[in-house]
Amino acid sequence: MSATNAGASSEPLLIRGGRIITTTENRVADVLVEGERITAIGEDLPAGQARELDARGLLVLPGCVDPHVHLDTDFGGAKTVDDFTNGTAAAAIGGTTTLINFAMQWPGQTLAQALDAWKGQIEEHPPIVDVGLHMAITDLDYAGSFDELDAITRGGIPSYKVFTAYKGSAMLSDDDLLRVMESAAANDVLVMVHAENGDIVDLLQRRALEQGHTEPRWHAATRPALAEAEATSRVIDIAHLAGASLYVVHVSCAASLERIANARAKGWRVWGETCPQYLFTDESDLERPDFEGAKYVFSPPPRTPADQEALWEGLADGVLSVVATDHVPFTFARDKQLGRDDFSAIPNGAPGIENRLQLMHHFGVRAGRFDLHRMVDLLSTTPARIFGLHPRKGTIAVGADADLVLFDPQRRHTICAATQVSHSDYSLMEGVEVVGSPTLVTVRGRIVVEDGRVVGRPGDGAYVSRAPFDPAAADAPGQPLAVDG
Ligand code: URP
Ligand code: ZN
Ligand code: ZN
Repeated sequence: MSATNAGASSEPLLIRGGRIITTTENRVADVLVEGERITAIGEDLPAGQARELDARGLLVLPGCVDPHVHLDTDFGGAKTVDDFTNGTAAAAIGGTTTLINFAMQWPGQTLAQALDAWKGQIEEHPPIVDVGLHMAITDLDYAGSFDELDAITRGGIPSYKVFTAYKGSAMLSDDDLLRVMESAAANDVLVMVHAENGDIVDLLQRRALEQGHTEPRWHAATRPALAEAEATSRVIDIAHLAGASLYVVHVSCAASLERIANARAKGWRVWGETCPQYLFTDESDLERPDFEGAKYVFSPPPRTPADQEALWEGLADGVLSVVATDHVPFTFARDKQLGRDDFSAIPNGAPGIENRLQLMHHFGVRAGRFDLHRMVDLLSTTPARIFGLHPRKGTIAVGADADLVLFDPQRRHTICAATQVSHSDYSLMEGVEVVGSPTLVTVRGRIVVEDGRVVGRPGDGAYVSRAPFDPAAADAPGQPLAVDG
């Protein structure tokens, strides 16, 4: 991964005899890749000049899309340790070929300045997979902010992120929320919300600290599920009032899920996302000895086994639409120690970008919770649709970008921080063995992972502009196997 690879062309590839899985298809066929696109799909395709890759016995999946990532981000007193080169290498090894990072606006910055700075960070550390940005709005209180927002949208960023949490830093007031939602409704933009009641959390945190409660487990105790559900209800109503489309990030509990299910049942334009940490960890992890509970400090916090079950059901029955990672690669040895004496000072977030596909295959598909089609839908097709990337991404079709994952459904892998690509020094899933792992990954026709190792170079990935948000496309069932070029 030393030299940049920007602009280099890739050799044609013929992926021979794999089982192609999309949301609607399950068939054995060859896939021809020329340049950056898929140019043919069929049986016994002639290889011509193409390099043949034997995919017999393997699944051929559309590259996964991770729409919730925090690379190279100052947050909560620390900076995440994966930059756009290393973080996208970690994404690639896990079968993610496009990620969308949050372009956070920080105090003193205009939105335009913030976006420029984020694009600079991507240029400084060129990515190995494709990268988009969401505009994360924390301050609108200056002249021209909405004009800037309109220009940013027209420039290929059709999603805003706002917070009802993190009082005193990122939290927006309800009137600002309404103004953002009205602007989004007018501009074909999706509003993503971190929904927790920041005022209530702030009060409960101050009270706990006054009573001398400093340990990590107080992170969950001061961020109750109902404070998340209340904020979820509120942003659903504000979005509806404004005529906006809403995407609730990192849904962690049954109570929030219920609010989303009710809204969707009424036909309101609301989508929900959860993340592996809410399916595999619970509040008892915050009680791990020797301050290890700090590894599980992320927001919203891990909940209960009953909440985990509800989330699995939400993934299977369609109340939830996406599994993203909320990858926030802090270190335990340095970053998490900032909150040794005060749980509220522990930087919020945990790593996880490279195991999402393995976990959903092992604990979702192999455990019989949903099938391969639904897995592809949750990890690739629906996020591509919602975030303006489909049909270039999120499917396997003639004319689509050759973002492909050859996945060995029998390959065993033990998740371990010591061998992960992320520079974080821990994993929430340490020691967990999964069956099924990516072996080869391409990004627009370039091989970036081979034999389960990262071989991609900085610049194999690129910044992607995205199409305006289209609610009809976001929920469309299935997709054809051929798209226009
Ligand atoms: O704990 C988390 N999730 N940290 C990252 C920022 C956010 O809230 O998504
Ligand atoms: Zn969040
Ligand atoms: Zn996040």
